Amino acid sequence: MMDEIKIQKTLQPKEKPQLSELGFGNYFTDHMFVMDYKEGRGWHSPRIIPYGPLELDPSVMVVHYGQATFEGLKAYKTKDHHVLLFRPHANMERMNISNERLCIPTLDVEFAVSAIRKLVEMEQDWIPEGENTSLYIRPFVFATDPHLGVRPSHTYSFMVILSPVGSYYPEGIDPVKIYVEDNYVRAVKGGLGYTKTPGNYAASIKAQEVAKERGYTQVLWLDGIEKKYIEEVGTMNVFFKVGGEVITPALEGSILAGITRDTTIKLLKHWGIPVQERRISIDEIYEAHAQGKLEEAFGTGTAAVISPIGELNYQGKIISINDGKTGEIATRIYDTITGIQTGVLEDPFNWTL
Ligand code: COI
Repeated sequence: MMDEIKIQKTLQPKEKPQLSELGFGNYFTDHMFVMDYKEGRGWHSPRIIPYGPLELDPSVMVVHYGQATFEGLKAYKTKDHHVLLFRPHANMERMNISNERLCIPTLDVEFAVSAIRKLVEMEQDWIPEGENTSLYIRPFVFATDPHLGVRPSHTYSFMVILSPVGSYYPEGIDPVKIYVEDNYVRAVKGGLGYTKTPGNYAASIKAQEVAKERGYTQVLWLDGIEKKYIEEVGTMNVFFKVGGEVITPALEGSILAGITRDTTIKLLKHWGIPVQERRISIDEIYEAHAQGKLEEAFGTGTAAVISPIGELNYQGKIISINDGKTGEIATRIYDTITGIQTGVLEDPFNWTL
């Protein structure tokens, strides 16, 4: 049995930001959730305390060897002021998959979701209610042994922080320009690609910076072995609509199993739109474009929800997709997911909690 969550309220509540200045990940709420792990004792001392800096030993293992995982999910407020979380169990189950791979102790999914719920309820005045806004929830675990030497840590912290956010990309739901990366790779099968661990994001920054210098918002990642098959776009999963059918790369170990990816596949099936998870080569996409069959391309992820792709550049060959406009399927998926998330649309899948 987990201990009860202790609560210490802040004596200095912060001023809330204006909706227009939110951006993504810039502001944090008044409180955070913390719980510790010690080998032999398990997870213990769950507590909600004022948001603030951590004091860590400089030898703390996460800083040196990167043993950490994180998640991202969102909370919304309905018109009648109910707090809704979107598929929180799916996130915490995925965190356990990441934890297993990183030799980090797993969490009790029900307890973690109830802790998130308690924190979000406490901070519900921070849930922004403007269009394309939400309260972004960031659960994370990291190794805390003060030790140099590569082995699993014996102690960890699990924390949850909250950030009121607007759009992830300044483009919002407008299409972005994507550079097809054929030099750097994000992950390989057998590595960490399917986990949500900081190292995957660290590995991606260089390519993102180079793409930005070339005038592109993000990169399209190809597989790490043949540099032929499409994997992800930026930090998101990727979908294409080709000749009336929607296709997305299959999960073969190097790709993150996105919750928005899964939501998108389930919605497409529900609507009777054919969808296939399989290997997709970059050549296939360029051929489909040459034959006039490439109708849409878009990324899916929690942060941006849907991010349409308006242009691809592969080895200097530039193609425009759907005349650089947001496509029908991307719009329908975006409207449906955000409609369910905010309680405006019915939720036939019981995704909101
Ligand atoms: C997502 O939700 O698409 C992400 O992975 C972005 C996050 C790393 C900020």
